[in-house]
Amino acid sequence: MSSRFAVFVALVAGLTLSTLHPFTQSSRLGSLSPVCLGFLLGLLVAETPIASRLQEPLGLTSRHPDRVGLDILHSQGSLEGETAKSELDQRVTYGLQHAFLNLEVTGWWFNMGLWDKDRSMRFQDACKALVEKVTSQIGIQHDSHILDVGFGCGDQDIYMAQLYQPARITGITIEPIQHHAAQELVKRTRTPGTEIQLYVADASNLPEFLESTPSVFGTSKVTAAATATGSRQFTHVISIDSAYHYNTRAQFLHNASRVLAPNTGRIAMADMILAKPAPTSGFGRKIFETIFSAVEVPVVNMKTMEAYKQDLMDAGFVDIEIECVEDQVFSGLAAYIENQTGRLGGLVKPGVNWSYWGLCKGLRWLDRSKWLHFVIVKARNGPRLS
Ligand SMILES: C[S@@+](CC[C@H](N)C(=O)[O-])C[C@H]1O[C@@H](n2cnc3c(N)ncnc32)[C@H](O)[C@@H]1O
Repeated sequence: MSSRFAVFVALVAGLTLSTLHPFTQSSRLGSLSPVCLGFLLGLLVAETPIASRLQEPLGLTSRHPDRVGLDILHSQGSLEGETAKSELDQRVTYGLQHAFLNLEVTGWWFNMGLWDKDRSMRFQDACKALVEKVTSQIGIQHDSHILDVGFGCGDQDIYMAQLYQPARITGITIEPIQHHAAQELVKRTRTPGTEIQLYVADASNLPEFLESTPSVFGTSKVTAAATATGSRQFTHVISIDSAYHYNTRAQFLHNASRVLAPNTGRIAMADMILAKPAPTSGFGRKIFETIFSAVEVPVVNMKTMEAYKQDLMDAGFVDIEIECVEDQVFSGLAAYIENQTGRLGGLVKPGVNWSYWGLCKGLRWLDRSKWLHFVIVKARNGPRLS
């Protein structure tokens, strides 16, 4: 894909430059350049036989439905797949164009996952492995009441319910559409012994959310007395691959400590921090700020290990354990996306493929540069601070 992409960039850049260059602008050729550029871009997105001829070598999409089917059947580049592709012109009635009728979405997981070395893991299993890594050995019991902050589409709540059967899981997310998907999932999945309640709320406003939502500690299927603290406190606060988004994470940690039971409450997170100090001024700083604001991460959250530990201590946490697991995260996810794009990329719009292509390049770069730590954090709440 990368060499194809380079050809595409070179073509577009060449034509763009030729439109801007004063010498060619004054020539007849120069005035034709915008037309050529428009024609080329039009060809790239159009739905014509010529367009698909052009799109395929550029790696933009596999338009031939049987080619998409063969990509799904074989991993990218297998010998059998290539041989079969060379026979695509044979007349067929049905071929493989019914691929999409057989596809099913069995969950809406979206964390970075914890990947095996052999790379044969499925995405959902890697996501589950991350949940297990975060939630193991933090004393979740049948009378626990978990606050899950940034629950995604609820898959992790169902999974925690299956793993530990805590009395209650209260989840919050900032995205209404994900809340909607999660409610649907919870409605159609039985979780005996666990009540799951999901809300739209901002992690940065925990006290206000609890104040305005009495049902969180109210009685319904599971009585408040059945939970370990029996009162307006959680036994656990969980945040998986999400806390780096909060504005600010330090404020969230402070609030988390206040909603957890003193001395016994536990926080557990999968999070991202800096492995190297950030540039403090100049062009480097500008790039640093631009990258993080583009992915909606407040720059103030990008802290080194020492500053991060200090935030946890300032919030009132003790027995802090932080494990760096980025070697099992970034490259594993990149390899999976590359493979998945090779197999199923033909089924999605080129723009979606391109955004995942960008994500892959970013993940590969993170893996090589060792610039960020992906951390698993576990800590116990200290005594109530005044
Ligand atoms: C990378 S996803 C991880 C989702 C989920 N933990 C999972 O494993 O599938 C990050 C999640 O954090 C949520 N999020 C981001 N900022 C938030 C905030 N301020 N308050 C609550 N949730 C937030 C997003 O809506 C998104 O669902």
